[in-house]
Parts: sequence; structure tokens; C-alpha cells
Amino acid sequence: MAARLIATSPFVGIAVFVSLIALVAFYYKPFSQQRLFTVEELALYNGTDQSFPILLGILGSVFDVTKGKSHYGEGGGYNHFSGRDASRAFVSGNFTGDGLTDSLRDLSSTQVKSVVEWRDFYFRSYTFVGKLVGRYYDSEGNPTKYLKGVEAKAARGAQLLEKQKNEEAKQPSCNSRWSQDEGGEVCLPDVESNYRNQAVIVLLSQFL
Ligand code: HEM
Ligand SMILES: *[C@@H]1O[C@H](CO)[C@@H](O)[C@H](O)[C@H]1NC(C)=O
Ligand SMILES: *[C@@H]1O[C@H](CO)[C@@H](O)[C@H](O)[C@H]1NC(C)=O
Repeated sequence: MAARLIATSPFVGIAVFVSLIALVAFYYKPFSQQRLFTVEELALYNGTDQSFPILLGILGSVFDVTKGKSHYGEGGGYNHFSGRDASRAFVSGNFTGDGLTDSLRDLSSTQVKSVVEWRDFYFRSYTFVGKLVGRYYDSEGNPTKYLKGVEAKAARGAQLLEKQKNEEAKQPSCNSRWSQDEGGEVCLPDVESNYRNQAVIVLLSQFL
């Protein structure tokens, strides 16, 4: 009688529902709860303190690059990337002063694509540990307009490169071309392979 009452009570349904939600929330936690860094927090992981991991930001994504200590640690050639987001320097190669910025202002679409590819490289090679609050992620860890703009620009860069590649593939295999007034285009001989042929002839002429 009591059991029947419990089983048919609407509270049982509610309890089951709440438990399910709690279960789902528990298992989703590791995915939704990435660590958010401030610029100041990230700066502590610059490789100076050996007891800290070395962290690097790119497009607001933060990676643990401790295993690449020889590059990113103190005295390493790429130490300037540590403890900050210097996204721009991945294409500018300018590792000094204001060159170490996360702003991609006025870069071309193919350059922006190159930065996105560097981020892909870090996803493949190192461990993603969180997001940097600022230009690319808001205080909730959601991508900003700026990040969406960068990704759209990178996609345009990829299209541009694809188009160029296709156009090059369409050209006849011919090193250089010379337009005559009449008779259209003429393929000039491949200079490099001519040198190769000549070298072979010189070599053979010593024996024949
Ligand atoms: C825009 C300029 C450049 C940028 C942003 C850049 C960035 C990087 C980064 C981030 C790494 C470390 C990759 C990792 O975590 O494994 C790296 C490695 C390396 N870079 Fe560069 N690099 C630049 C130019 C150059 C140039 C001009 C050279 C050669 C003259 C060079 C030679 C190397 C070599 C040899 C490694 C591998 C070192 C090793 O694995 O021991 N880089 N580069
Ligand atoms: C580098 O990190 C150390 C602590 O790990 C900190 O004391 C120092 O101020 C940092 N350097 C910069 C330039 O932020
Ligand atoms: C690096 O960037 C800074 C700031 O934009 C600039 O003053 C400096 O001349 C640049 N250095 C090189 C080598 O391009």
C-alpha cells in the first residue's frame, strides 16, 4: 500500500528527473569547466619558475608546452611565446616589444590562416588547458566576435590559397612563357633542366 503510494507519487518522477539531470551535469563537467586565465595569471607560467608548468596562449587557447621546455623555457629560442598570447608573432616573427601582441589587425587573410594553423599545431602536439579571458574569449569562456572574425578571415585565406593552387594546376607545365605578337604563347625551354642536360653532356664528353 505504502509502496504503491510512493510509486505513483508525482514526487518520484520529479526525483528521478532531478537525479538524471545531476548525473548528466556531473559527466559534462570536465568538458564545460575549462580553466579560464587572466593575462596576469598566464604571465606566471612563463618558464621562469621551474616548479610551474610552461603555458602558451594562441588565439586565446592556452596550452601546456612544458614538454617543449628547450624551446619555450628560460633561454629557449621561443621563450617569448610563454606566459602570454603573442598570436601575431607567429606570422610576423617579431618577438620584441609590441610585436608580442595578440592583435592580428591588418594581417592578410592568408597570414591569419597561418596563425590558425599554428593553433591547430598546438592542439595536435600539446595539451589544451584552458582559455585566456580577453580578446578571444569573454569572461564566460565564450568565443568573442573578434575570434569569430579571425576564423572567418582564415577561411577566406584558405579559399584564396585553394583557388591559387587550382589556377597553377591549370597552367601547362612550362617554366616560362613568352608572348609573340602573332601565334600566341610559346613555352620557353626549362632553363634548369637545360643546365642539368648540359652538365651531363660535359661529364660524358670527358669519356667519349
Ligand atoms: C615567423 C618566424 C618563426 C616562428 C613564429 C617560429 C616558431 C617556431 C616554434 C613555435 C617552434 C617550436 C615548435 C614546437 O613546439 O615544437 C619552432 C621550432 C623550430 N624553428 Fe622556428 N619559427 C620561426 C622561424 C624560424 C626560422 C627562420 C628558422 C630557421 C632558420 C626556424 C627554425 C626552427 C627549428 C629548427 C625548430 C625546431 C627545433 C627543434 O625541434 O629542436 N624557425 N619554430
Ligand atoms: C614570469 O613568471 C614569474 C613567476 O613564475 C614572475 O615572477 C615574473 O614576473 C614573470 N615575468 C613576467 C614578465 O611576467
Ligand atoms: C617589432 O614590432 C615593434 C612594434 O610594432 C616595432 O617597433 C619594431 O620595429 C618591430 N621590429 C621588427 C624587427 O620588425
